[in-house]
Order: sequence, then structure tokens, then C-alpha cells
Amino acid sequence: MSDLAEQLRPVTVEEWPRLTRALDHVFGEEPGGPFADEPSPVAELDRSLALFDGNRIAATSGIYSLEMTVPGAVVPTAGVTWITVAPTHRRRGVLTAVMRRQLTEVRDQGREAVAALWAAESSIYGRFGYAPATWRGGWSGPTERLRLRPDVDCGTGTVRLVDLDEFRPPAMAVYDRVRRSVPGNLDRDDRWWDRQLRDDPTQRRGATARRYLLHAEADGRVTGYASYRVQSSWTDTSEPDGTLTVGEVRALTPAAYAALWRFLLSIDLIRTVCAPMASADDPLRHLLADQRALHSTPVDALWVRLVDVGQALSARRYPARIDLVLEVRDRFCDWNDGRWHLWGHPAGAYCDRTDRDPDLVLDVEALSAAYLGGVSLATLQGAGRVTEISPGAVTAASTAFHWPVSPWCPDEF
Ligand SMILES: CC(C)(COP(=O)(O)OP(=O)(O)OC[C@H]1O[C@@H](n2cnc3c(N)ncnc32)[C@H](O)[C@@H]1OP(=O)(O)O)[C@@H](O)C(=O)NCCC(=O)NCCS
Repeated sequence: MSDLAEQLRPVTVEEWPRLTRALDHVFGEEPGGPFADEPSPVAELDRSLALFDGNRIAATSGIYSLEMTVPGAVVPTAGVTWITVAPTHRRRGVLTAVMRRQLTEVRDQGREAVAALWAAESSIYGRFGYAPATWRGGWSGPTERLRLRPDVDCGTGTVRLVDLDEFRPPAMAVYDRVRRSVPGNLDRDDRWWDRQLRDDPTQRRGATARRYLLHAEADGRVTGYASYRVQSSWTDTSEPDGTLTVGEVRALTPAAYAALWRFLLSIDLIRTVCAPMASADDPLRHLLADQRALHSTPVDALWVRLVDVGQALSARRYPARIDLVLEVRDRFCDWNDGRWHLWGHPAGAYCDRTDRDPDLVLDVEALSAAYLGGVSLATLQGAGRVTEISPGAVTAASTAFHWPVSPWCPDEF
């Protein structure tokens, strides 16, 4: 390991304020956020790394121990976070040292076969084997055109506004059921729900505090929830011109989902509705009478990196049978480099080293992109990122890696 990687070490509780100051400095934030002095409840200091220059912290990183849904399974995932290098220390290989140390430790500890992160810039992490595996839809549209189709079934339940105390327990229960079927969704325990529901007035940008909805069936069972904010505005000619920003809409049934959206799209005095974190493949589009009213600008969201190719590929499920040898090129984590025999089907999978001839050759970035089932290996072949050796192997692998539910991660970390 390089000298730099050896100089990195976890921060102590006493050093936490210095770590947050370093983060605030690099991200251009004013110091003094809610956890400026004491670690936030989700922080795992033993998985942090910092580079000290005298008394100052010159580089930071952290890992959250997460659980992420992947096709057909839920797997432990190293959630990489707090990545900064001070302007005084940039472009000397510090980030490279952090990445090397993190990935080596994650692999040696055997806790997670997969790592994931949100990238501040999309030019940073590809060289370390990370690739975008989920997209957020980031849509907006004019309220007057965002109408549901007349044949949409909104069920017989009711939608009501509730306060946070009433909202939280049933929303947690609904989320815990729906997240298991959406690749890229993360487990949220109490600490992560606290973080999710924190409503810092300085981050509202002129909008109201978050408002909460529950959808309940006639017998009282809660089958869906939503959150949103309103930003009131008026035109010069006194016409209402408000904006509704939707946070989350999750439901156990299509009717509850439709009923929540019917409510959200018919709030008075709103001219524009937007949903910055919505899935790029939100079923809402198919509920609308005028699909073109919804303007979506998909942006890469969660990035994924296979830390242990064999374990990661064994952990997920494949909707079609696959029995292929993949030659994986991984210059940064050489323990993955080489040939892997992947045998899988809808109920199980096995992946191990082999010396058989390869059917496909691809780099670990391409494999990581395809892992959650949302990026086609055939598309990556079109970009020259996957090479087919055995005729038909790309079609077979693309079909088996694809997953019917589009991967999506609404939780930034
Ligand atoms: C991004 C950041 C962590 C990079 O740290 P660093 O120590 O300068 O990175 P390294 O010196 O290890 O760079 C390794 C390689 O990546 C390249 N690189 C690093 N940051 C890059 C960026 N933002 N865009 C494009 N290339 C970048 C370097 O040029 C270098 O390339 P080379 O090996 O061909 O010379 C640092 O600039 C930073 O803190 N930026 C602001 C905060 C941020 O964006 N954090 C990421 C949060 S997800």
C-alpha cells in the first residue's frame, strides 16, 4: 500500500468537529450545521479515514454500513461518503489512496461485496471502478396538464394530512415492504428515518415545512404515504403561481399510489409540480392522460462498485438462466481481475473463479453499472465496453442481468 494510504486513519470522537469543518470547507458550506460538534447518529467513526497535516484534517472519508436491495435479494453495502481533499492537497493522489484503502479494507473485512456512493461530479469515480447504476427522474410539469387518465382506479381509500408523529410509524412499515422489491432502495432504521425526516429550515429555499399524507383503506390499514412542500407565489397580475415539490410517494397497491397522486396533483393555487428525486421510470407517467406534460431530466444517482465480483454476482438473482464465463478487467482491485464462471437463474446463483475460455470480456465498471439490472450489457457493448467472444453471449447476459423493476435510490448520503 502507498505511503499516503498508510497515513490515513479513523478520526476519534474528539476529532469529529475538525472533520465536519473540513467537510464544510470543501463543500462550501457555512460551519455550524446540526452535527458540527457531535457525530450524527448514523456516523461510523471506526469506518472513517482522515489525512492529518499537523493539526488540520486535509482529507476525509467515511463508510456507512447499509443494506441495499439488488435484483431478488437484499445485500450489505458499503455506503461511501464524506469524500473530500482540501484545496491545498488536491491532485497529489490523496483520493486514490483513500479509495485504495477503503476498497481493500471492505474486501479484507468481508462485510460487503458491494460499495455504493453519490458522486459530486461524474468525472471522479469511474477510474476506481464505480459506475452509475440508478437514475433519478427529476421531473416537473404544469398542474393543469397533469391529470390522471379517466380510467385510473383510485380505490375506495382516503388520503389525509397528518402530523409527523402520526405519519412516521405507518410510513416506516410501508417503506420497509416496498423497498425490498426495488433495486437500489436502502434499508432505513430509526436513525436513517430521523435523518430522512429532519426538516432544516435553512434548506427549504422559501418553501414550507414538509407536509405529510397517509393513504388508508376503508378498514383503517395504511397502504401508502407521501410528503411534499409548497412554495407560494403570485404573478404580477395576481394569479396564483405556486410550486409543489414532492418528496416521496410510496404505496403498497396501485390504487393507493394513484389516489396519493390524484391528491397531490389537485392542490389549489399550484401551477407547477416537481419531483426531483422520483424514479426515472416512475409509474406515474402511465397514470397520466397527457404523458408529455411530465418533463423529466434523468440524472445519474447511486453509483455502484463490485468489491468482490464472485460474492456480488452470487448474491443477486437472474430472471433468465445464465451460464457464462466473464473475463473481468479490474485494474484497481486486482483480486477481481480474471475469469469468473457465473451460473444463475431466478431462484439462485453461483459465481466462482475458472480457467475456462471467456464468453464475454468487460471491465468492472461495466459490470457494476449492470449489477442492479437497469443498465443493459448490450448498450454497453454498443459503447465498446463489453466484448462478445461467444456468439449470443451479450444477448444472454443482458437478458439475465436485466430486472423488471428499474433500480432507483431516493436516499442521498
Ligand atoms: C474530488 C477530490 C476528492 C479529488 O481528490 P484528489 O486527491 O485531488 O484526487 P487524486 O489526486 O487522487 O486524483 C486521482 C485522479 O483523478 C483525477 N480527478 C480527481 N478529481 C477529479 C475531478 N473532480 N474531475 C476529474 N478528474 C479528477 C485526477 O486528475 C487524477 O487523475 P490522474 O491519475 O490521471 O492524474 C477533491 O478534488 C475534492 O475534495 N473535491 C471537492 C469535494 C468533492 O467533490 N468530493 C466528492 C464527493 S462525492
